[in-house]
Amino acid sequence: MQAPVVGFSKLSKTEKVNWLVTTYFNGDTAMREVITRYWNDDQKLQDLHDGFSENTITNYYFPFGLAPNFLIDGKLVTIPMAIEESSVVAAASKAAKFWLDRGGFKTTVKSTIKSGQVHIMYDGLSSEMEDYFAFAKAELLQSLESINASMKKRGGGIQDLTLVNKTEALSGYYQLHATFETKDAMGANFINTTLEQLATTFRELTATYDGFTSTKPEVIMSILSNYVPECVVNVSVSCPVDEIGTINGVSGEDFARKFTRAVNIATVEPYRAVTHNKGIMNGIDAVVIATGNDFRAVEAGVHAYASRDGHYRSLTRARVEDEVFTFEADFPLALGTVGGLTSLHPLSKLAMQILENPTATQLMRVTAVCGLAQNFAALHSLVTTGIQAGHMKMHLVNMLEQIGATDAEKELLRKEYADKTPSFSGLRESLEIIRRS
Ligand code: MEV
Repeated sequence: MQAPVVGFSKLSKTEKVNWLVTTYFNGDTAMREVITRYWNDDQKLQDLHDGFSENTITNYYFPFGLAPNFLIDGKLVTIPMAIEESSVVAAASKAAKFWLDRGGFKTTVKSTIKSGQVHIMYDGLSSEMEDYFAFAKAELLQSLESINASMKKRGGGIQDLTLVNKTEALSGYYQLHATFETKDAMGANFINTTLEQLATTFRELTATYDGFTSTKPEVIMSILSNYVPECVVNVSVSCPVDEIGTINGVSGEDFARKFTRAVNIATVEPYRAVTHNKGIMNGIDAVVIATGNDFRAVEAGVHAYASRDGHYRSLTRARVEDEVFTFEADFPLALGTVGGLTSLHPLSKLAMQILENPTATQLMRVTAVCGLAQNFAALHSLVTTGIQAGHMKMHLVNMLEQIGATDAEKELLRKEYADKTPSFSGLRESLEIIRRS
């Protein structure tokens, strides 16, 4: 068995690579080459990237693409997308083009409120916690003044502080539930700093308070919540059914009917809902990553929102009413356009510039549009041709790479498969035929 490595984080990058190549690849120099060829020659840029994480040995590239022609609230937008899956950017672009001539995407930001909790246990009477909170609330808020000052200047800061009795769910469990407006920042650091100050003040005040008959309340932890059911943007597209036109041989009327049913299926059936929402996240994550936001936070929040009534459901809704087709969604998106990686990563900065330096609410709108567009494109294929025809065509480049075709062979195979759905076995057979001839 391999011995544990001691002091790994203290090794230089080259030493870390040496350790890896020796330990896992028998000192194979070709592996060293795989790792080091992705190092950036610009040492300053490399240092910047190394600083984003820990124990870095190299850089991991993602394709950064553009989906142009999105008409959003009457304005043309080009959406930057960082994603490794083929056909996602093409699908977004296709949906953008479809809706460009049909009124475009409309968005409304419902609210940008986020929350965080100080989690507390107290075994005594609930009325004692309530009395204590009434006694302490003003001082708790007062203690946040300096932390809140600059956020307040920008129109944000803590909005409200309540005591939540959770004892029915877990014996002795209470929360200080705080809500926040963080303006253009995602606000994670601000919220967590504020919560930790609340916890400190809470502890200090309990020390001198004599209204508790049981052991004093204990703060367990203080942390923001990535569940943001209030920080929500609505996005919709709509057009008369007779403006849909024929899609992949399917009439507009049939398309609208099948499309609506497909969304209804994802609303009631979790097996389908998860895949349906995964397609939405193809679009949302790609923008979130391109703009340097936290896609894990968004993912967690979105899926919790999709199951907010206790049943995991489609995030999108579709209907035909009075011969008008409408497709829409509410997405909980806590995003920032200042601070964190957004202003550090050169490509996040580029993404922000492509989006003309949006506010956080503008970025919420664009991201939501990309999610709805992605779902539209997926269902567009699913209820007409099926997904594989388009997807596999886009995937052809990867497949040709995987079967080891040379550039000349790729060219021949691309021509041969221009109108055919490729499969690995079919491609291998074709490659053999080419090589034999
Ligand atoms: C693939 O990444 C996403 C889809 O499966 C989404 C869907 O089924 O709706 C095509």
